[in-house]
Amino acid sequence: MPGEGPLSGAKQQPTSAITAAEKTRLLDVARAALNRAYAPYSKFRVGCAVLTEGGGVYTGCNVENASYGLTICAERAAICAAVAAEGERMKLAAVAVLNSAGTACAPCGACRQVIFEFGARARVMYQGQDGVEETSASQLLPSGFTLS
Ligand code: THU
Repeated sequence: MPGEGPLSGAKQQPTSAITAAEKTRLLDVARAALNRAYAPYSKFRVGCAVLTEGGGVYTGCNVENASYGLTICAERAAICAAVAAEGERMKLAAVAVLNSAGTACAPCGACRQVIFEFGARARVMYQGQDGVEETSASQLLPSGFTLS
């Protein structure tokens, strides 16, 4: 039936609800984090803040390397910090990502899969064409990979 295929998003779960104050705080924290980026090659600084369901806020920035492919994106750095602080049961409620160039930049495919792993329902905020866009992890990555 049209619109009900595996990629249609028909079975998406409802997304986490976060308050306007939490959104503002996450965006502020992400903006601060991008100043700590290590981006000597691309000069494209990215900062990320994640809010966990437990209420913790953790940050990450992109960390580049002379061997370019080893670069770590801001989103995955923030998620690693959250797991390191809260442990394996950590669940994401929201993710905010901003960059220094002010250009539209949604999380890359690799980061979408990692966000999905820790919270398919998480709200995801990122710089769009006209300001901050907001969506959910499962909207960003329909049919994300799982082993179960
Ligand atoms: N980058 C991120 O940190 N997150 C993304 O979702 C996309 C790209 C970084 C990686 C690299 O250091 C720079 O942006 C340019 O690609």
